[in-house]
Amino acid sequence: MQTLYFDLRDTKGQQKSIEDKISAAAKILRDGGLVGIPTETVYGLAANGLDEKAVARIFEAKGRPQDNPLILTIPGQQWLPRYCKDIPPLAYVLARKFWPGPLTMILKCRTDVVPPAITAGLDTVAMRCPDHPVTLAIIREAGIPVAAPSANTSGRPSCTTAQDVLEDMDGKIEGVVDGGPCAVGVESTILDLTCDPPRLLRPGGLPLEDLERLIGHIDVDKAVTRALNEGEKPKAPGMKYRHYAPKAPVTVITGAPEKSAQEIVRRVKPGDGVICFDEFAHLFKEQEVHTLGPSGDKLAHSQRVFDALRTFDNSGVQEIYAQCPDNRGLGLAVGNRLKKAAGFHVIEADSAKVVLGLTGGTGAGKTSALRAIESMGGTVVDCDALYHDMLEHNEDMRNAIHTTFPGVFSMDGRLDRQRLGKEVFEDKDRLEQLNAIVYRFLRPEVSRILEEGGTGLYAIDAINLLESGADALCDRTVAITSPLELRVRRIMARDGISEQYARLRISAQKPDEYYRGKCDCELNNGAETAEAFQQEAREFFERLVETVKEEKAHGQA
Ligand code: TXA
Ligand code: MG
Repeated sequence: MQTLYFDLRDTKGQQKSIEDKISAAAKILRDGGLVGIPTETVYGLAANGLDEKAVARIFEAKGRPQDNPLILTIPGQQWLPRYCKDIPPLAYVLARKFWPGPLTMILKCRTDVVPPAITAGLDTVAMRCPDHPVTLAIIREAGIPVAAPSANTSGRPSCTTAQDVLEDMDGKIEGVVDGGPCAVGVESTILDLTCDPPRLLRPGGLPLEDLERLIGHIDVDKAVTRALNEGEKPKAPGMKYRHYAPKAPVTVITGAPEKSAQEIVRRVKPGDGVICFDEFAHLFKEQEVHTLGPSGDKLAHSQRVFDALRTFDNSGVQEIYAQCPDNRGLGLAVGNRLKKAAGFHVIEADSAKVVLGLTGGTGAGKTSALRAIESMGGTVVDCDALYHDMLEHNEDMRNAIHTTFPGVFSMDGRLDRQRLGKEVFEDKDRLEQLNAIVYRFLRPEVSRILEEGGTGLYAIDAINLLESGADALCDRTVAITSPLELRVRRIMARDGISEQYARLRISAQKPDEYYRGKCDCELNNGAETAEAFQQEAREFFERLVETVKEEKAHGQA
C-alpha cells in the first residue's frame, strides 16, 4: 500500500489546497482507512471510531495487544453525551478549562454506541479533544469520532514528527498528515473521572498541579511511579507494557542535575549512550549523547524525550544512562516515560550514599575487602583508629572511663593504656564494662562522620560492628569469612608467628558462624592471594551497592 503524504505544516497560505488536503484525509477516515494525524502531544494513528473493521486495522498496524483500549478523539465537549453516560459535572468543568488540550478523561461508556474494540470490553471510555487546528478540522469534516492511539509501533517510543510516523507506518496506512513537530511531545494526561477522588492514570502534557489547582486532590495510580508487582493491574491497561524501550538497557538517574550528571560520569563506558541536559553534554565526549535541553526547561525535555529514545533505538550503544527532571510540572510525565523506557531501573543520585558495615575475624580478609572499597572510591571509617583517637581526645568518654576505671589515669590526666588493657583482658566483666562505655560514645561519632561526609560509598570497619550497635548505621552488614586453614596460613605469614599461636588467636575470637548468622550477607574468602580476593570483593561490593541504590530509589518513588 502506498502511504500518501499531506503536508500541512503551514496553514496560512493557499486556502484551497489546505482544504483539499483536509478533505482528502477526512475521506480516507470515512472510508475506513488509517491516517497518521498531528496533535499537540504526539502523532496519532486515526481510524473511524465507530467502524469495527477500521479499528481492528489499528491494532494490526501497530501490533498492539488486544486488551489495550483506545482513546476516542472528538472535536469538542458537545460530543461527549453521544458516547458517554452519567457524565459528572466535573467533566464539563475540566473540558471548559483544558479542552482542546492534553487531557484525556475516562468516563462511563455508552456501550450500545461505542464498539467494544475501542474499549477492549471495559464499561468506560477514554475521551480526548486535541489542540491541533489541522486534526480538529479533519475530524469535523469527517463528522465522526476517531480512534487515535499514538502512531508508533507498539512498544516503540511515540512519534513527535510525521517522519517518525512514516518510519513506523509507511506502507501500512493510507496517509500521514504532517502538521509539524508536536508542541508538547509527551502524550495526554489521563484522568479517571469514574472514581472519587479522580485518579491520575498517566501523567502527560497537562501537569497534575494544574488539574489539582482547579479540582482539588487527585489520587495518583501506582503504575505512574513504579514498576508493578506480579499480578498487580494498572487502571490504564497500556501502563503495564514496557513502553518506549530502546534496544539497549536504560538506567535513569534521578536527583539534582549536578549530582545525577556526576553519577553518570562514574558509570559510563566509552560507547555507551547518554541522555542529559545541555549543560552536561561536554562531560560525555566518548559517548553518544542526546540532550533534553537546558536543565530548567521542562517543556524542552518533554518535546525531546521521545526523539532521544527513538534515535537510540537505531544506534549500537551498549547501555544508556538518562538524567531525569524532578517530578514537578511536566517533569512527572517526562520522568515517567524515561523510567518506563528503563523498565523502572532507577538510581537516585541524591540518596547515593551507601554505608556498608564490614566485620569478621582476624585473617579472614577484612583488610583486602576494605582495599576493594577504597579502590571503588569509597571511604573507610576505621573504628579501631577512631577508638584510640577518642581515648585521647573525647572528654566525655574519658570521664566515663575514669569513673569506672579510676586507676588508669595518672595525676596529670594521661591514660595508661597498658594498665587499662591489663585490667580488662584479665576480667571479662571489666571488659564488658569498658565496651559498654566505648560503644556508647563510638556510635554517635561514626554517625557524625557519615553525616558530614556527604554522598558516596562508606565502609565501617569494626571487629565489634554488631556488638557496638554501629550496624544500625549501615545499609548492609557484610561478614568476611574464610576457611580456617587459609586463615591460619595468612596470619602466620602476615605476623610472622607460629602455627600454634595463629590457631590460638583465631580460637580466642568469635567463629565465622557467629558473623554469618548476624550479618545481612557474607563474603567468603577462599582466594589464594590478597590481590585475587580484592578483585572478587570489588565485584561483590559493586553488585551490592547497585542493589542498595535501586532499593533506595524505589523506596522514594
Ligand atoms: O496524547 C495522547 O493521548 C495520544 C494522542 C495521539 O492523542 N494518544 C495516546 O493513545 O497516547 P495511546 O493509545 O497510545 O494511549 C492510550 C492509553 C493507554 O494506556 C490505554 O490503556 C489507556 O489510554 N486507556 C484507554 N481507554 C481506557 C479506559 N477506558 N480506561 C483506562 N485506560 C484507558
Ligand atoms: Mg501509546
